[in-house]
Amino acid sequence: MKNLLEIKNLHVRLNKDLEYKDKEILKGVNFKMAENSIQAVMGPNGSGKSTLAQVIMGDPSYSIHSGSVEFLSKDITNLSVTKKALMGLFLSFQHPVEVPGVNVGTFLHASYKAIHKIDVPIFEFARDLRKLSKELGINDAFIARNLNEGFSGGEKKRLELLQMAVLKPKLAILDEIDSGLDVDGLMLISQGIKKLKEEGTSFLIITHTKRIIEKLDILKVSIMVNGKIVQEGDVDLAYKIDKKGYKNIVYKET
Ligand SMILES: Nc1ncnc2c1ncn2[C@@H]1O[C@H](COP(=O)(O)OP(=O)(O)O)[C@@H](O)[C@H]1O
Ligand SMILES: [Mg+2]
Repeated sequence: MKNLLEIKNLHVRLNKDLEYKDKEILKGVNFKMAENSIQAVMGPNGSGKSTLAQVIMGDPSYSIHSGSVEFLSKDITNLSVTKKALMGLFLSFQHPVEVPGVNVGTFLHASYKAIHKIDVPIFEFARDLRKLSKELGINDAFIARNLNEGFSGGEKKRLELLQMAVLKPKLAILDEIDSGLDVDGLMLISQGIKKLKEEGTSFLIITHTKRIIEKLDILKVSIMVNGKIVQEGDVDLAYKIDKKGYKNIVYKET
């Protein structure tokens, strides 16, 4: 199987903390992801999962001081966020920002045009968007609302799903998409993920519980603790953690 993503010995610090040598957040992350797969990264709070996601996408508040990130066999460690997005990388936020004054439909239309380089007329796009929402079980009323403004946690996650369906990334990194979702929301999101997977999107699911993992066909579970991937296994590892907690897992350095 070819690698979609390969992270080698990644060391990362927060820019503002560069002067503190002990403020390393990622301490040598090694991680591989196969093409056409759904994989999970789990780990306790503060272990560095969100940092890893942000760094893969290229958040400028972090600095990589050694190691590399390859996507589709290309070194993307120093590429801009825009270039990465154009290559087919997508990151959903743990805490999406509210953008008053920008409506969801307009935002998705602009994103679609930027990524696919196709200038589809707005009325045509709006029609397709409503159809897509329906297929995903998302109420299309929120297309006319302002981006994330006053959205409930669940609505924000549904918007992320709709955005992925529009952008069709090769790899979507979902940071805690399951947190704050009720049972129906979780069902809708996991069904949406399965549908997009069939259409060619791979997923890196970041989570700290097994809630969403048990709803998906997960190829590999990687456990991050204190800035490193300390153990990998199949989905049984997620169940083991759910039963025993992170503390009681015997870590094997990889
Ligand atoms: N922007 C930031 N400002 C300050 N501390 C940060 C920032 N990003 C990450 N950290 C710190 O790095 C560690 C890892 O955080 P994070 O990547 O959010 O972990 P996780 O997503 O696994 O809970 C934590 O100790 C956190 O406080
Ligand atoms: Mg996090």
